[in-house]
Amino acid sequence: MQEVAVLGVGMTQFGELWDKSLRQLFTDAALAAIADAGVDHIDSMYVGAMSPGLFVGQEHIAALMADYLGMPGISATHVESACASGGIAVRQGIFEIASGASEIVLASGVEKMNDGADATYALATAADQEYEAFHGVTFPGLYAMIARAHMHQYKTTREQLAEVAVKNHEHGLKNPNAQFRMKINRDTVINATKVAEPLTLLDCSPLTDGAAAVILTTVDRAKKSGKPYAVIRASAQATDYMALHNRKNLASIPSVTKAAQAAYKQAGIAPDKLDVVEVHDCFTIAELVVTEELNLFERGKSGAAVLDGLTRYDGRIPVNTSGGLKSKGHPVGATGVAQIIEIVEQLRGSAGERQIKGAHIGLAQNMGGSGGSSVIHILKGE
Ligand code: COA
Repeated sequence: MQEVAVLGVGMTQFGELWDKSLRQLFTDAALAAIADAGVDHIDSMYVGAMSPGLFVGQEHIAALMADYLGMPGISATHVESACASGGIAVRQGIFEIASGASEIVLASGVEKMNDGADATYALATAADQEYEAFHGVTFPGLYAMIARAHMHQYKTTREQLAEVAVKNHEHGLKNPNAQFRMKINRDTVINATKVAEPLTLLDCSPLTDGAAAVILTTVDRAKKSGKPYAVIRASAQATDYMALHNRKNLASIPSVTKAAQAAYKQAGIAPDKLDVVEVHDCFTIAELVVTEELNLFERGKSGAAVLDGLTRYDGRIPVNTSGGLKSKGHPVGATGVAQIIEIVEQLRGSAGERQIKGAHIGLAQNMGGSGGSSVIHILKGE
């Protein structure tokens, strides 16, 4: 097996981008990643996208994107696993390099959610249609149930949930690509428009247009390039029951636990060795539950940890230095790739104002729906 490196990264601005089409977003991110890596060709590509058919009426997007990238003829594959599509696209690219089948792979994600489509309907197709969506529950409602369970079992407070959003908006202020670059406080979160009790508008990730891409290659080739790169130390993926009612404990997301255990084993590290972490905070409660599943905090203790500042950029373990999905935005198919980009920027020391001093090992956790799928990557700086 070849060791795999991330040699180049590229992403677009995240936001409501009315003047950019799906294909333009993809092409902008892909060309930026190719230029960053300094490669003159790619052997194949993967495109993560949750539902371009419902969002913009376009399917068969891998071939379309290869065409618009000016590379018709190469192998191109669309990867879908709801909001985990991007992370799993990167994982497929890793396998292709590790197996020796290709030497340079572009792994990307793209979504255009603000183009007039019924985004809430499109997103809810990633929940269990027969048992959840059919009865009118959508993702804010599902995560609100997870929040209620966590509050009930662990005495997690409304303030602790709100602090996740406050922290991530503070981090996002330093990210020029973030959708919402504004400072908020706990009161504004708690008193914002209710979406699904106890979650308000400011507990939710927004609807976002955007794309992100990375260039994967062998560590040997990355070394020879003379450019900074990050090494993939682990790539792990797991699934769980789709519908919440089948899960034993509503306050837990077992697909993350399973993927995390496999990832720590592959990388041969314990959670306390991580310097920086990006997690899938599609709702504030998701960040709390996921940091517990990653074993960064004991079960039930993540709320107190965020309130104590342990997950801020200057805390014990900085979480979502990019601003997370909350502030940076959540173009669902692109999110998993953008998380890996943030970790790579941190490891190669190019994260600008967000830089965590001496960051050497980072983890990116991306999940689909309410945790029916999850994928985790651990990367090491060189
Ligand atoms: N955070 C901060 N501000 C937000 C926001 C968010 N998540 N979503 C919207 N806004 C702002 C808008 O910019 C707008 O501000 P303006 O009036 O100053 O222009 C205002 O709030 C209203 O925006 P609007 O687009 O009308 O909001 P909406 O009611 O259509 O959508 C949500 C709000 C929360 C319902 C929507 O963002 C949502 O569904 N989020 C969850 C997405 C999701 O489920 N993703 C998958 C996760 S698994």
